[in-house]
Amino acid sequence: MDLSSIQRFTVNVSQRVRRGCTLLRNCLLGSPRLKDWFYPPSKIKTPAEKYRERNEDYFADLHAQERMLADGPRMAFYHDAISRKIKRGDRVIDLGTGTGILAAFASRQGAAQVYAVDHSSIIEHARELAAENGIENVDFEDVHSTKLFLDDQVDVILHEQMGDFLFDEAMVPNVCDLRDRLLKPGGLILPSKFELYCEPMTLRDDRRVPFIWELTDVHGFDFSSMERSRPQDSEYYGLVSCDLGFVKHFLGEPAPILEVDLHTITESSLPLKVSFTRKVTKEGILDGLVVFMKVKVDDDLELSSSPLDSGRAPHWGFRILRLDQSYAEIGDKLEVTLTVKDWTDPDTWRWTCGMWGCEELA
Ligand SMILES: C[S@@+](CC[C@H](N)C(=O)[O-])C[C@H]1O[C@@H](n2cnc3c(N)ncnc32)[C@H](O)[C@@H]1O
Repeated sequence: MDLSSIQRFTVNVSQRVRRGCTLLRNCLLGSPRLKDWFYPPSKIKTPAEKYRERNEDYFADLHAQERMLADGPRMAFYHDAISRKIKRGDRVIDLGTGTGILAAFASRQGAAQVYAVDHSSIIEHARELAAENGIENVDFEDVHSTKLFLDDQVDVILHEQMGDFLFDEAMVPNVCDLRDRLLKPGGLILPSKFELYCEPMTLRDDRRVPFIWELTDVHGFDFSSMERSRPQDSEYYGLVSCDLGFVKHFLGEPAPILEVDLHTITESSLPLKVSFTRKVTKEGILDGLVVFMKVKVDDDLELSSSPLDSGRAPHWGFRILRLDQSYAEIGDKLEVTLTVKDWTDPDTWRWTCGMWGCEELA
């Protein structure tokens, strides 16, 4: 038997085995009795439970914590915010305390009592670090925030629950739950004001990686037939980067697509479809949409993850929602729609961007 016959034989067998497994799985799922036997309902985890476990594991890792602590703009923002807003005598919850750094800032600012909550095992280090740094009035609560119960309500909820795409660390449900149960009327959530951006943009020429079917001349080799094999998985269409040199410029004037105040928001009030337009003010290839956030405490105190902001907080990524390339000229109009099943799960986001030439519009 030659080599190519062996390869064909192996591919054939593995395809048959895969088809067999899929068939068996579908039979199991089709029969309620068998399904319950293989997948007992008590063992099926909800997406929220699965996310919680991932989050707990992720933040137990010292590297996840050191990336945040070494992020200079982030730490300066929180240090300033706490110095400005936390008053002597305040009772404070630090939701997701991690290494306990924000709880320590609040304590040094004169808080009467800080309840520092974390569901991850990092909280053991937080306890020791506080003792070693002379921080005394912090109670460390080793629970998920939904299991935190206190006799009296607090003056401030302090938190850093922002994911790369703002909502993907369950900030809204976590903070709303504590706000509704444990924050005094008129109490403070720090920070509370957020903006989400989704800007049409062009990548730097030397960094652009087009879709494979857009590569029509790699030293005379054409990949355009690969368009027949467009991947179906949403992950392929979203890239995450922290790299400041990646995005060349926005095509229009940036504006937030969502503005959120945690004092008033409810989980169900987040829209699941956002449509907006941008007039092209700087021409270039439309490579995709870049998603980033801003957090505001005062007019002169904000934190940004914009790829074009040299003072951006470097450990947060921004997300690029890829689009088939087209060239946008000054005056063109871009119509963008973002639909989302679940803001905490970027894989459920879908987007389109239509472009109208200025002549067509005229
Ligand atoms: C982004 S880190 C911030 C850590 C720390 N506050 C800081 O600023 O360096 C978020 C932390 O919140 C914790 N966390 C996330 N959701 C939580 C929840 N619902 N209850 C308790 N801890 C949570 C994670 O384990 C993680 O340590």
